[in-house]
Amino acid sequence: MERNSQQRTLAITGAANGIGEACARLAHAQGWRVVILDREAEAGQKVADELNGAFYPLDLLQVDELRTLAARIEGEVGQVHGVINSAGISQPTVAPDELPLEIWDAVQQTHLRGTYLSCAAFGTAMAKRGGGSIVNISSVAGMRSSPLYSYGPAKAAIISMTACLAAEWGGDGVRVNCVSPGFTRTARVERRLELGDRDPNVYSNSAMGRMVEPNEVADACLFLLSDNASAITGINLPVDCGWLVSSSWDNFGGKRSAGEGNAVLAGKRTRRKAAPPAYASGSVPGND
Ligand SMILES: NC(=O)c1ccc[n+]([C@@H]2O[C@H](COP(=O)([O-])OP(=O)(O)OC[C@H]3O[C@@H](n4cnc5c(N)ncnc54)[C@H](O)[C@@H]3O)[C@@H](O)[C@H]2O)c1
Repeated sequence: MERNSQQRTLAITGAANGIGEACARLAHAQGWRVVILDREAEAGQKVADELNGAFYPLDLLQVDELRTLAARIEGEVGQVHGVINSAGISQPTVAPDELPLEIWDAVQQTHLRGTYLSCAAFGTAMAKRGGGSIVNISSVAGMRSSPLYSYGPAKAAIISMTACLAAEWGGDGVRVNCVSPGFTRTARVERRLELGDRDPNVYSNSAMGRMVEPNEVADACLFLLSDNASAITGINLPVDCGWLVSSSWDNFGGKRSAGEGNAVLAGKRTRRKAAPPAYASGSVPGND
């Protein structure tokens, strides 16, 4: 990796794949020096090599602190000006009594504890220097209920923790924000859809009728990291193609097809249990 003193350094957890990788690629294109942190060494090294960046192996399930690693990175690569915390795992959607506690713990440890350790290490160093920016990746699953009994609460806590840290470090010039993706078409999600392991309706049940692309999440992250967001801290920005605003439409028969008027309901949502109500022609479905 060539060192360029003009370049700002961005450390990204979970950057060997998916959203973190998309963030690394966009950041590189925008002139950042990228540091890839991931437990998948081969994939992480490959991304780092392609982007003339650095790779450091990190397994958030195996660490109790990240200060040592953060100090090593700052010594070997340079001061870290930005951090994106994207490392994450999913969980089965089973009932509470069927979810093994090891899985519950691993999800908490990766998402909530991992994001906290990264913020505490890099953010504290940034605050001591008087500047920096952090983006934590939460999820729409942290903003609505779902059968994800560890993932959902961990993501909700990340939104809360982001606000706490933003208040803590605002006076030190460190901004801390959160991005909450909706269903995002990463390679891993694509594989699950192909295997029938995920509901294919994730394509259609957002307001925009499609999934989010990883580079669209990256765009939001890089905006929040940049000086263009210089007055923004402590927020949670959903990047979800409008899933949050359209999912409650299930209670009213689902989304309409464009141009079909009030009386015609799209009936796209196969997860809906009841048939759409038969509204009188020309009437507008009420909100009661
Ligand atoms: N893809 C989606 O639909 C979606 C939606 C909302 C939120 N998210 C969140 O976005 C983030 C990225 O998800 P993604 O879809 O890109 O997933 P992904 O599986 O493609 O990438 C996750 C990365 O995190 C790494 N990782 C997992 N556990 C780790 C650990 N213990 N230590 C270090 N690295 C670890 C993996 O090796 C992988 O490279 C996650 O926090 C996820 O919860 C994803």
